[in-house]
Amino acid sequence: MEYSEKVMDHFMNPRNVGEMENPSGVGTVGNAKCGDIMKVYLDIENGVIKDAKFKTFGCGAAVATSSMATELVKGKSVQEALEVTNKAVMEALDGLPPVKVHCSCLAEEALHAALWDYAQKNGIVIEGLKEPVDDIEHLHDLPEEA
Ligand code: FES
Repeated sequence: MEYSEKVMDHFMNPRNVGEMENPSGVGTVGNAKCGDIMKVYLDIENGVIKDAKFKTFGCGAAVATSSMATELVKGKSVQEALEVTNKAVMEALDGLPPVKVHCSCLAEEALHAALWDYAQKNGIVIEGLKEPVDDIEHLHDLPEEA
C-alpha cells in the first residue's frame, strides 16, 4: 500500500491533536466496521472557526485525514467548513488508497457532528448540514476493507 508524502507527514506529525475546554461544538463518531472512533472539537467565534482539535482511536489514515481536515477548516465560516469534505481532504493529501477512503469519512462526519452540536447550542441552521449519526458504517458507499 502506497501513501503519499503528505499523508505520511500528517500521520507522523499530526496537527491539532488534543482536547479543548469549553468547545463551541464537539462531535464524536465511530465506524463499527473497523472499531475506530473520532472526536472533533471546534472553537467558533461569530460564525468563524478559530481553532479545531481532534482526538482519535483510529488508524494512521484517520489521523492524517483529521489532521488535514482540522487544518483546512480553521479560518473558515461554519458554512464554508461544509466544503471540507472527505474528497477535499483526500485531494489536499494527494490521495489515499481505496481501502482507506472510509477513514477520511470519519474525519468529515466528526467535523459535521461538531458543527451540528454548535448549531444546536446556538439555535442556528447550517444549510446543507445533516443530523449526525454515531456510527458511520452504513453512511457511505465504500469499498470493502482489504
Ligand atoms: Fe478505521 Fe481507518 S481503519 S478509520
